[in-house]
Amino acid sequence: MTVATQNGPAAIQIVRDTVTHHGASRDELIPILNDLNRHLGYLSGETLNEVSRLIGVSRSQLFGVASFYQMLSTKPMGEHVIQFCESAPCHVVGGRKLWQALYDELHLKAGETSADGKWSLVPVSCLGVCAVGPVLVIDDDMYGNVEPEQLSDILARYD
Ligand code: FES
Repeated sequence: MTVATQNGPAAIQIVRDTVTHHGASRDELIPILNDLNRHLGYLSGETLNEVSRLIGVSRSQLFGVASFYQMLSTKPMGEHVIQFCESAPCHVVGGRKLWQALYDELHLKAGETSADGKWSLVPVSCLGVCAVGPVLVIDDDMYGNVEPEQLSDILARYD
């Protein structure tokens, strides 16, 4: 997610364009929120207010949905988002050591963003590629069979 966080009129226009693109329907809520999360960096209160107004879903319901889905965030994220699969199949093939290596490199706990705003670390459930666990996704790039020793080189690609 290398898109700069946006607020104000530009963000509102993106919300309107996205809702128009998908259609102002409750059935399209997840695709709409997913697109907005990607384009705007996160789902601000302003963004959710506008979605609420356009689709007719209450703000509290929207917050509930945004909080439930791991790929959605209601707070600003880092320039690069690391999704770490924490499900059992990845865990047993080296995920635990990889998690420790991530902590050693970035000093981030689950859900945290680095002080310089560069990284956010988001634990997620199975990403559907268990055969190549342990798995990391950084922005739109997926890495499988990741060994802790490879981590520094992988992170260096995002300088
Ligand atoms: S358990 Fe990690 S991708 Fe499925």
